[in-house]
Amino acid sequence: MIGKVSLSLRVIGDDHVVSGTKVDVKRLAVLGSTGSIGTQTLDIVRQHPDKLEVVGLAAHSNAALLAEQAEGFSCRHTALMDEQTARSAGVPGGIEAVVDVAVAAEVDIVVVAVAGVIGLKPTIAAIEAGKDIALASKEVLVAAGGVVMPLVQRKGVTMTPIDSEHSAIFQCLQGYRADQVEKLMLTASGGPFRGKKRADLTEVTSAQALNHPTWQMGGKITVDSATLMNKGLEVIEAHWLFGLDIDQVEVVVHPQSIVHSFVQFKDTSVLGQLGWPDMRIPIQYALLYPERAPNQLRPWSPLDTASLTFEAPDYETFRCPQIARQSAKSGGTAPCAMNAANEVAANAFLKGRCGFLQIADVVEETLSRHKPTDPTLDNLLAVDGWARETVSEILKLE
Ligand SMILES: NC(=O)c1ccc[n+]([C@@H]2O[C@H](COP(=O)([O-])OP(=O)(O)OC[C@H]3O[C@@H](n4cnc5c(N)ncnc54)[C@H](OP(=O)(O)O)[C@@H]3O)[C@@H](O)[C@H]2O)c1
Repeated sequence: MIGKVSLSLRVIGDDHVVSGTKVDVKRLAVLGSTGSIGTQTLDIVRQHPDKLEVVGLAAHSNAALLAEQAEGFSCRHTALMDEQTARSAGVPGGIEAVVDVAVAAEVDIVVVAVAGVIGLKPTIAAIEAGKDIALASKEVLVAAGGVVMPLVQRKGVTMTPIDSEHSAIFQCLQGYRADQVEKLMLTASGGPFRGKKRADLTEVTSAQALNHPTWQMGGKITVDSATLMNKGLEVIEAHWLFGLDIDQVEVVVHPQSIVHSFVQFKDTSVLGQLGWPDMRIPIQYALLYPERAPNQLRPWSPLDTASLTFEAPDYETFRCPQIARQSAKSGGTAPCAMNAANEVAANAFLKGRCGFLQIADVVEETLSRHKPTDPTLDNLLAVDGWARETVSEILKLE
């Protein structure tokens, strides 16, 4: 519910805004610091040294970049997920080391920007430790929104979205109540294969899928954008973040990626948030909220974009969003199974081990074998593992 949004307003507003425009320095741990969102987060920190400080950094295996970042920010807490690389690099390794970075005493906000549901454990640990969360890793809420959001409320911390669509909605909702909202409309670029039909997509390669028309992102999310699964995941993410029914969250294709999403209110009025497709805008909003600080980013003007166009998604060609939506309607552990199946299939596609159209088939096949149970943390972790094994078996990955 949007009550969850006003919870963010209260906590960040009271704790961090000291008289008018002066803001205390917020100390960040960035999980996934070597990735697309992670490096852009660090760029925003560099632009606001009086407001933001990095005290923790974690990545998977890019030891060289992690070391460079740690030196640049004089950062004491670092970790690498990959234990072997961590040992050779002489930094703490493994999931517990990543959790230690997230819960370190100095940390105020944890930026969760790792690729995939691997961010779940550190996110839960950080919330338990009373840290605010700036969330990029949508998979965390897709798989475990029913565990994470109640915990956010119980601990009185904030969960601020970094995903551009959810940031847009968060911005449009400021000052409004849940019962004033008719629906959310998430915009989708349509990805590199917009306008193609199934027959055109049988042979596409990962190199073609990675050629996104408007956004520069990591590999897995770029594949998700090509299949439109990214929108399916975002519909579920929006449902959890804003507490609206899944059917109140719609998708509209907008190839220019200038309008980052819309909110329609009960009186039919529609608000949208606009800007260049640059993730540093929502990252800064999440980290400095509710402040609007000047930065070095390029301003957008309506004269910069001759036309803004919108079209309905082609769900016959791109089946993933509807499969994801259906998993949310099935409820329980089904979205967790869907998410895990998609993660394995998308990564297999990147390695040439799964066809592009096969991604949807494999996710659907996995869901057809799954009987949803209560979404407790134990059940979710078990289902995540089961779905990964199931896809590996279907695709003969081992
Ligand atoms: N990029 C965007 O524009 C964008 C927009 C909205 C939402 N998001 C979401 O943000 C998240 C990150 O996306 P991205 O595009 O930044 O991905 P990315 O460029 O692939 O970066 C992923 C980051 O996570 C780390 N990582 C990967 N596997 C890990 C593991 N098992 N344990 C710990 N760390 C791990 C990587 O470390 P190494 O470098 O060491 O491998 C890297 O720092 C995803 O959930 C994505 O959906 C991204």
